[in-house]
Amino acid sequence: MGDVPHGTRRNRRRLMFETLEKRPADGILALMQMYKDDPRQTKIDLGVGVYKDATGLTPVMRAIKTAEQQLWEQENTKVYTGLAGDPAFSDAMIKLVLSDAVARDTIAAVATPGGTGAVRQAFELIQMARPAARVFVSDPTWPNHISILGYLGIEVVRYRYFDDESRGVDFDGMMEDLRQAKAGDVVLLHGCCHNPTGANLNMTEWQAVVEVLNDTGAVPMIDIAYQGFGDGLEEDAAATRLVAASVPECLIAASCSKNFGIYRERTGLLMAVSRNAEARKLHQDTLAFLNRQNFSFPPDHGARLVTMILNDEALRQDWMAEVEEVRGSMLGLRTQLAGELQRLSGSDRFGFIAQHRGMFSRLGTTPQKVEEMREKNGIYMVADSRMNIAGLNAETVPILAKAIIDAGV
Ligand code: LMR
Repeated sequence: MGDVPHGTRRNRRRLMFETLEKRPADGILALMQMYKDDPRQTKIDLGVGVYKDATGLTPVMRAIKTAEQQLWEQENTKVYTGLAGDPAFSDAMIKLVLSDAVARDTIAAVATPGGTGAVRQAFELIQMARPAARVFVSDPTWPNHISILGYLGIEVVRYRYFDDESRGVDFDGMMEDLRQAKAGDVVLLHGCCHNPTGANLNMTEWQAVVEVLNDTGAVPMIDIAYQGFGDGLEEDAAATRLVAASVPECLIAASCSKNFGIYRERTGLLMAVSRNAEARKLHQDTLAFLNRQNFSFPPDHGARLVTMILNDEALRQDWMAEVEEVRGSMLGLRTQLAGELQRLSGSDRFGFIAQHRGMFSRLGTTPQKVEEMREKNGIYMVADSRMNIAGLNAETVPILAKAIIDAGV
């Protein structure tokens, strides 16, 4: 024993973490890194979904700056809040997302680390309630929906959503597929500003979706991460409010990352809407339990800023005005890009870019052409041809338009 060099015995043993397998890289995050590593001055980042102003900066919003200053002066403790976060945050966000569409005492809510945290907790709640539940997701959807569902071992069913020809919603296909859902299944819907396509349902179509949900008994889960970036803060919440008011149960995962510009603060809310106060109590306790198991108390800083802004008339007005500026700038870029493409192509086939809403538009081209534009022109869009419209400015729109035409899209 004594003459076995220290470490040899250790080396012979199969090490605990040797069994780990390499996980697939997240396409959006890998693209962020590729963009960073590209030395070209002329590169254009249309990848990850963050808002950027004309100079390429993702600014701290004015109301957030003011609230942070006030918070610095007023906050005298950093002691734990509660497992559900500060109830004032839940109240303020419920009002923002749902207004008075459903009675407050039927909504359980917990603060979560970002919208992704809310999505993750929602999936865990589904699995806990119905281990055999299938989750129907739009084809395509935000890739991380599918990744988290797979990680948790929840069965994914894709429903048709994007029509490659019109670049709008394949509504008939969607309805046909949703009719296959059953009681005990969940249908994941994007409340507004569909990610990654930018194609959205109108209110008549939403009404038809509600009817299918009620006919099948499937439970809707709404992911709303871009409220205010499509048609306006109220308009963008209309579908979520309609669904919540029309079905017996639903889950809503809301993100503050984009509309408050507090990406790194990780601020989100999961809401579970039920039909009575007794069910609400069970949901509330279960959501708090899930928070405790996964991370204990949710982050508070971003949630506190959001609460301050939503509850202070002056801050709220300033925030709403800035969200409108952001929305207007993205709409302006959409119009400019669609116009430029019309001019270069001599056709209206890119008109969908002006019709889409939110940060994204799916161009509807092949990964090869996406790669060609990246290599030749330094244009970074996600491989499925999702473009973050906010990554453009008035000077880069013509460069992108030309690259799209040159690539033969
Ligand atoms: C996106 O879709 O780009 C954003 O939601 C950021 C992310 O986490 O993927």
